[in-house]
Amino acid sequence: MKRLLIILSALFCAANIYAQKIEKGKDIFSDTDITAMNAFIDNLMSRMTLEEKLGQLNQLPGGSIVTGAPLDSPTGRLIAEGKLGSVFNVKGVEETHALQKVAVEQSRLGIPLLVAMDVIHGYETMFPVPLGMSCTWDMDAIYESACIAAEESAANGVAWTFSPMVDIALDARWGRQAESAGEDPYLGSKVAEAMVKGYQTQIMACVKHFALYGGAEAGLDYQTVDMSRQRMFNQYFPPYKAAVEAGVGSVMSSFNIVDGIPATANRWLITDVLRQQWGFKGLLVTDYASIAEMNIHGLGELQENSVRALLAGTDMDMCANGFLGTLAQSLSEGKVTQADIDRACRHVLEAKYKLGLFKDPYRFGDKKKAKAVTYCEANRKAARRITAESFVLLKNDAYHGQSLLPLKKQGTIALIGPLVDTRTDISGTWSTVQAPEKYKTLREGFQDALKGKATLLCAQGCNLLDNKKTQETVARGHGNEPIPFVDADAALQDAVAIAKQSDVVVCALGECAWMSGEGTSRSQLELYAPQRRLLEALSALGKPIVLLNFAGRATALQWEDEHLPAIMNVWFGSECADALCDVLFGEVSPSGRLTVSMPRVTGQEPLYYNRLPSGRPVADGTSDYSVFTGNYIDVAQGPLYPFGYGLTYSTFSYSAPRLSANEMTSKGSVEATVTVTNTGSREATEVVQLYIHDRAASISRPVKELKDFRRITLKAGESQEVTFRITADKLSFYNYDLQYVLEPGEFDIMTGPDSQNVQSTLLTVK
Ligand code: NOJ
Repeated sequence: MKRLLIILSALFCAANIYAQKIEKGKDIFSDTDITAMNAFIDNLMSRMTLEEKLGQLNQLPGGSIVTGAPLDSPTGRLIAEGKLGSVFNVKGVEETHALQKVAVEQSRLGIPLLVAMDVIHGYETMFPVPLGMSCTWDMDAIYESACIAAEESAANGVAWTFSPMVDIALDARWGRQAESAGEDPYLGSKVAEAMVKGYQTQIMACVKHFALYGGAEAGLDYQTVDMSRQRMFNQYFPPYKAAVEAGVGSVMSSFNIVDGIPATANRWLITDVLRQQWGFKGLLVTDYASIAEMNIHGLGELQENSVRALLAGTDMDMCANGFLGTLAQSLSEGKVTQADIDRACRHVLEAKYKLGLFKDPYRFGDKKKAKAVTYCEANRKAARRITAESFVLLKNDAYHGQSLLPLKKQGTIALIGPLVDTRTDISGTWSTVQAPEKYKTLREGFQDALKGKATLLCAQGCNLLDNKKTQETVARGHGNEPIPFVDADAALQDAVAIAKQSDVVVCALGECAWMSGEGTSRSQLELYAPQRRLLEALSALGKPIVLLNFAGRATALQWEDEHLPAIMNVWFGSECADALCDVLFGEVSPSGRLTVSMPRVTGQEPLYYNRLPSGRPVADGTSDYSVFTGNYIDVAQGPLYPFGYGLTYSTFSYSAPRLSANEMTSKGSVEATVTVTNTGSREATEVVQLYIHDRAASISRPVKELKDFRRITLKAGESQEVTFRITADKLSFYNYDLQYVLEPGEFDIMTGPDSQNVQSTLLTVK
């Protein structure tokens, strides 16, 4: 009977063969009348002095200098003198409008300011950090989160967000993996598109950091990047290109060196690739003070470097004061031309025009709207739902014959760890305008969920790390209530005492908000010593333990995997506490999948599934060491949890993929179909993944590459056929000469629930 049901539902549930579609709202730029814009800007520029043009190229943070009396502040004076085109990270309608008023009413030509902000994963309604958002594999949800962030930002005076960051991040030691969509170029491109389209329903997006910032050697932030152009084009560039194709209005260049030249002044990168090859027509801004930092990279003085940056194609100088301070002199010395400056100025004015600022300089920022939408009920509800989608269940072993999760709301539950009572950390790194006073701590979330049903006992249990000074620095959070550095022995005793009285122990450990993000490289991805000591003491009690691993990156959980029955990765968010209870207590089945490979030990980094084959390969999972092969002496091969992996509260089975034809021409396409069945006892969401491998090509190709995926929700016992269309594009790559080609030959077509667990069939391209 069950089989019959499965067959019937398979017949009726053939899935759409097209990848998840993004339902698009209208792009704010789409109504621009280009002829009218050009005429307007021609006219305006004909009236601008050189200094006013350079002023447009200048960007500074607004900070707190502006509140109250903007004209008394250095920023205000610069605006009034027409020497500032853009400010960033100013919070609130009053502040942004106060600055705008100076620009419009005090500067000679009244050119409005472009107000920007690092709205990275939400304004006040905070979504999980971007890495966590990517773990939803849900492009509609990512799009929705960007729309919500844009709505709140626009209402509060922000016209431009410095997001999305789409840097491929292979090395988890790099703290900014948190801001990325992980290690995969295909998934990263989809995320880039969804975010750009979401933001640009209301404000301008900025794709960053162009380019290769995630390739920093040894995962050390701001370090050297050095890679082949094939690798750039095949592995690192696709998400930036996807953002350009999605119509992103601006691009931020990166701090690092590309091919020996800082990206900030790399003409090949900015002009040849970005503008000419990809057709980017928008605004190019540098990263923070990076024109000035070129000097530290060893490339001369500010004046010379400003010339290089401008000639490379940069339009706006963030915080270096190089363009405003030195380009006039360079013009008089013939080092740049008026046309170079005009090009940059025009790009800035075009962005302002397209955003409608010349028509209404105050169109961003509306107190009534801000009150209505900022952290409103609807946005919080969406964030709670989406946050629950981001958690990745890594392990869920049986305890007394039944999977430990979901937990029952009964008996006594101990909630232990430094993340239990923190409000400032809950929304995660880079939460520029978070409002922690409005968010629930984990303790509060659990209290609400368990009220009248179970007893909750809480303890901090340990410090984040043993070094007090480092803890105080990273736990500075976003201000007010840093996680306290406590007496280690007393904290451990408290934790053991409450665990003894409990039926189950939930540990909230890992990273606080600012243990990942900019400038937070780690040399060790294992749980830090005090946290491990706590887990050792608790597991000695023989109680069932659920580890909630808070993280902004892949971490190394080998010991935890060996000793604990249940582990779930958690990626922050203002609604994290409620969302966690939804999942832990079973109202929602977890559906997140890893977008980074999680190593067994730190020494495996950078670890990623789509590596090039080695001449002496060893299969993932092999633990016996053999000489003269590509394995480590001291650790099993491959990740502990692979890219694409994540459990649900149900189980799924996959058929082998079936092709509509075993051969295709380079202009044709075939369909690959896989039958997926929910073999468990409750409804759950599965992410069905398609990988390909080019068996023989003119250059070495990755062992596996994600080329499509589908999120499907199936009832218990239900089956669905998922069909992917394989087109030339999915099989093409950039060859040695950087031409995008499809080379005929044999391709493995693989489908499955994650990058390791796949079934394969062969496709021949004629
Ligand atoms: C530096 C960071 O690299 C960049 O991502 C950010 O947008 C700017 N600072 C502005 O805050």
